[in-house]
Amino acid sequence: MNFKEELRIRTDYADNVVKEFLSKEEGFNKELCEAMNYSVNAGGKRLRPILLHTFYKLFGGDSDIVKPCMAAYEMLHTYSLVHDDLPAIDNDNYRRGMPTTHARFGEATAILAGDGLLHQAYETFIKIFDTEISTRTVKALKIFGDKTGINGMLGGQSADVLHTGEIISDELLYYIYEKKTGALIEGAMLTGSVLAGCNDEDLAKIKRVGELVGLAFQIKDDILDIYGNEKEIGKPLHSDEKNNKKTYITINGIEKSEHDIVVMSEEACDIVSSLGNDVEERDFIIKLIKYLTDRTY
Ligand code: IPE
Ligand code: IPE
Ligand code: MG
Ligand code: MG
Ligand code: MG
Repeated sequence: MNFKEELRIRTDYADNVVKEFLSKEEGFNKELCEAMNYSVNAGGKRLRPILLHTFYKLFGGDSDIVKPCMAAYEMLHTYSLVHDDLPAIDNDNYRRGMPTTHARFGEATAILAGDGLLHQAYETFIKIFDTEISTRTVKALKIFGDKTGINGMLGGQSADVLHTGEIISDELLYYIYEKKTGALIEGAMLTGSVLAGCNDEDLAKIKRVGELVGLAFQIKDDILDIYGNEKEIGKPLHSDEKNNKKTYITINGIEKSEHDIVVMSEEACDIVSSLGNDVEERDFIIKLIKYLTDRTY
């Protein structure tokens, strides 16, 4: 099977897992649930659940125990997008090829839908305890808290928003990228690995892989914001320019940015090539990391 087919199968699987955990749209909170489900069902690459599951299998994991965690990462990621698009933040009206949640349901419901997805992510993650309460499941939850909150994605988003328009230091730029984008990618990799029983030495290597892939992923996102195809990326072009963002590209130029993505991805792939015990999964991860640097959406 070629890589594209393999990715399609894994995306469909992740998509079905996420959908298993969505709320019913009924009762007095029906509109809230519709707004929450709307943004999740709009699609997306499902990268974080795919990574979580693949790293789980890389270290020999073979049960359904990871399913709630896969769904939780996608819910949390989707909440970050719903809030990122709000008028007070990036003010974008198009996401995943559809009107954004606030454009479709109004700002108040979009704020609550984001809150709802954040809560639902935790409610879903802890379903893992219905199957197993152990050091590894507790450790996985701890990682989730760490990578999503003020020292993770939210910390990065807040620094991104608060320093918009300013000339920022390299240190702050890396902080923003590693946190707002890298943290959930790294968290997904670590969560899958921990649940499969990966040791601390390998976890430290995976942390580095997550940082590198997260950075490269966000730089590529910034490139696509300028040079992408709006239909293909499913979100408006030039959002960063509209918001007067200082990005890796405005600071380093396009050539260096393109070059750095390749260097970061190669370093990540080098580390992965010495990890785990499942050759097929390792191969897929390496191809996926390379593919992300060349992606057009
Ligand atoms: C978009 O993430 C926001 C960033 C962190 C760059 P994705 O590019 O993974 O968005 P979806 O999930 O595919 O819509
Ligand atoms: C946001 O970065 C990353 C998040 C945590 C949501 P961007 O603002 O560049 O993401 P897009 O381009 O809107 O997806
Ligand atoms: Mg943003
Ligand atoms: Mg944005
Ligand atoms: Mg962007």
